[in-house]
Amino acid sequence: MNPRVEAIEGSLIRALNARKRPSSIDLGLGEPSLMPNMAYLEAAARWVATNGCRYTPNAGDPEFRDVVARHYGYPQLDRAENVIATQGSQEAVYICIKALLDPARDSILIVEPAFPVYRKCAQLEGIAVQTVQLAASDGFAFDPDRILAAVTPQTRMIVICSPSNPTARVISRAAVERLASALLARGGEPVYVMHDEIYREQTFVDDAGWFGEVYPHTLAINSLSKSNALTGMRMGWAIAPSAVIPAMSKAHAWVVSTANTFAQRVAIEIFATPGGLQEHHRWYAEQRAGTLGELDSIGLRHLPIEGSFYVAVHIGDATNSLAFAERLIEEDDVVAIPGSNFAPSFEGWLRCSWVAPLERVREGFARIARKSGVLAVGG
Ligand SMILES: Cc1ncc(COP(=O)(O)O)c(C=O)c1O
Repeated sequence: MNPRVEAIEGSLIRALNARKRPSSIDLGLGEPSLMPNMAYLEAAARWVATNGCRYTPNAGDPEFRDVVARHYGYPQLDRAENVIATQGSQEAVYICIKALLDPARDSILIVEPAFPVYRKCAQLEGIAVQTVQLAASDGFAFDPDRILAAVTPQTRMIVICSPSNPTARVISRAAVERLASALLARGGEPVYVMHDEIYREQTFVDDAGWFGEVYPHTLAINSLSKSNALTGMRMGWAIAPSAVIPAMSKAHAWVVSTANTFAQRVAIEIFATPGGLQEHHRWYAEQRAGTLGELDSIGLRHLPIEGSFYVAVHIGDATNSLAFAERLIEEDDVVAIPGSNFAPSFEGWLRCSWVAPLERVREGFARIARKSGVLAVGG
């Protein structure tokens, strides 16, 4: 056995989800509850009926790569050769780490609270992990100076997920510009910024920052999973400097060969449709408004929902969030994810998704509020 693999714990999110009962209120789910638009799948099936379902080149169907590059139009990253098609964005995360970091000397700096995948992929590859904790006192806002202060000569990649899973905060344009200019001013070997943009289509603020717009060493990670309710399609991509795509493509080729041809066709149809990626946005905006209304009316303390389909609710500074989440499932039939799963600084918080029907979301928050003592029992 590979001791590195043995040492890595499985997913707590999946373990908690496995304890769900048919009656449970599910605020744990990191997955859209909507159905996908079948028109894209039907168009892809028609294409396959004519063209077959063959391997694409390793880095992806040239049409897919082109349509993705042009859609985002990131300066210096806007050509087909800047894009690689992957098996969901999770594989994109993995091949960035696998191909661009040297286990003998490089470190990855994870901006926390963060989705656990980045750390686990780094552990799989034996890459040293550094973390920087965003401040609870600042509502876990992205603070460029705090992040820059954590960069060392070993740091070769910084990981930022914005809109954030789990905090629902969004990095501002000004913060991205500040980070980009400071990192460029360092000179020497580039420090890559892996920007996980998977919740991009669930952004609810006007001044969101995107590294690809200002920073040439960006690795922008995304997929159809959250935007189009296609988690099972496993269609992701990375947009990266053309100089690093061949190495990423090599790592990808030896593990998965190519991304799914049918899924790439579905993506081509979505990108070719104006507003195709945003078609669920209005539903999320309405659901978010209902969620915020409920949280505020019951007085449950929470972070702002600037993006994603989560909200971080406060259950008490001294509260062990894992123990709370376990009791919440057993005693109150509500699934939510403990903050400690995402960072030590996120202890005392729960990550709750709000994609279930609104009455269920409301009832779930009421039960959390009762449990955390914000409301008197039965109040
Ligand atoms: C922040 C974040 N990044 C990446 C992923 C991986 O998504 P996928 O591989 O389906 O694109 C997820 C899934 O929950 C996520 O929340």
